[in-house]
Amino acid sequence: MGFITLGIESSCDETSAAVVEDGRKVLSDVIASSLEFHKLYGGVVPEIASRKHAEVIDSVIDRALKEAGKGPEDVDIIGVTAGPGLIGALLVGVSAAKTLSYMWNKPLVPVHHLEGHVSANFIEHPELEPPFTCLVASGGHSHVVRVEDYGKFRIVARTRDDAAGEAFDKIARALGLGYPGGPVIDREARSGDPSAVRFPETHFPDSLDFSFSGIKTAVLNYINNTKARGGSLNVPDVCASFQYAVVDILSRNLITAAREAGDTKIALAGGVAANSALRELTATRAAGAGLRLYYPSPVLCTDNGAMIACAAHYAAARGRFAGSDLNAFASWNMDEL
Ligand code: KG4
Ligand code: ZN
Repeated sequence: MGFITLGIESSCDETSAAVVEDGRKVLSDVIASSLEFHKLYGGVVPEIASRKHAEVIDSVIDRALKEAGKGPEDVDIIGVTAGPGLIGALLVGVSAAKTLSYMWNKPLVPVHHLEGHVSANFIEHPELEPPFTCLVASGGHSHVVRVEDYGKFRIVARTRDDAAGEAFDKIARALGLGYPGGPVIDREARSGDPSAVRFPETHFPDSLDFSFSGIKTAVLNYINNTKARGGSLNVPDVCASFQYAVVDILSRNLITAAREAGDTKIALAGGVAANSALRELTATRAAGAGLRLYYPSPVLCTDNGAMIACAAHYAAARGRFAGSDLNAFASWNMDEL
C-alpha cells in the first residue's frame, strides 16, 4: 500500500476532506459548500462559514475515509490548511486535524492554502515537476509564484489592492449577476465582444505586480454612466471587455516572469484558473513563447481537500510538521515556507 495522506480544507466556504495516495492519486475528495447561505448576502459571511464548517466537518472527514475505503489505521499523515483565510473558518479545520492527529497518533502537517492551489496541478498532471512559474489567482490572492521545489516558493509578483477573483465578484454584483462572479462573467462573456469597451489596465514600471482597483472603478463608472444616460447596458460586452483586461495582464505577467526565471513550464492555479478566457489566451501566448502550460480541471481549481493532501505529502517529505500547538493564520506569506 502507498503512503496515505488525509487532507483537510476549511479556509473559506468549502469544507473539504480528501484521501490521497503517494501525493497524487486521489482516492476521495469530498467537498461540502456553504455557498447557498452566502448568496443571500452577495459574498462570504465569515460567521456563517465557521458555523457551517463546524456542523459538517466530522461527516465530511468520515465520508472521505469511507469513499477511499480507508480507516484511521491506514492514514500516514494528516495535512490541514493553517492559513491564509478566514480565521474562524480555518480554526475549525485545524482543530479537527489536531484532534485526529492526537487520537490516531499521526503526524500533523500545516499547509499554506495557496501552496494547495499550486499542488492541484501535480494531481492533474502526474508528470509535472518543479521548477516552474505559476499564477495563483483566487478570491483573496493574485500572485505570480516561482515554484522552486516541492513545498518551496518565491513570490515574484502580487496584487497591490484587489485580488482578481474579488474584482470578478464585485463587477458581477454591480451587474446584478449574483455571487460568485467569476463563473457567471465567464459565461456571459462568451456571447460578448472583448473589444467593445476599452477598460484601463495597470502596469507598474520595473514590477510585475498587479492592481485591479482601477479597472474595477472604471467598469463601475461605465455601468453607472450608461444607466444615468438612460442607455441600455450590453452585459455580455461589459463582461467580455472587463474579463479581457484582467486575463490579459494576468497572462502577460505570468509569461514575462517565466521568461525572466528561464523556465520552460508555466501553470495556472486558484479559482480564477477556471476562467476559460484566461486558459485560452495563456495557451496561445505560451505556445508563441515556447512554454508548456499546465492547469487543473475546474473542480481542482476551486477549494478542495485533495490539493491540500497533495501539498501536505510534499511538505512532509521536506520535514514540515507541527505539534498540537498549531495555530491558524489569517495571513501567512508563502515565501516563509
Ligand atoms: O480558490 P477559490 O475557490 O477560493 C479562494 O481561495 O478564494 O476562488 C474563488 C474565486 C472567486 O472570486 C470566484 O469568482 C473565482 O474564484 N472564480 C472565477 C471562475 N471560477 C471561480 N473567476 C473567473 N472565472 C471563472 N470561471
Ligand atoms: Zn482557494
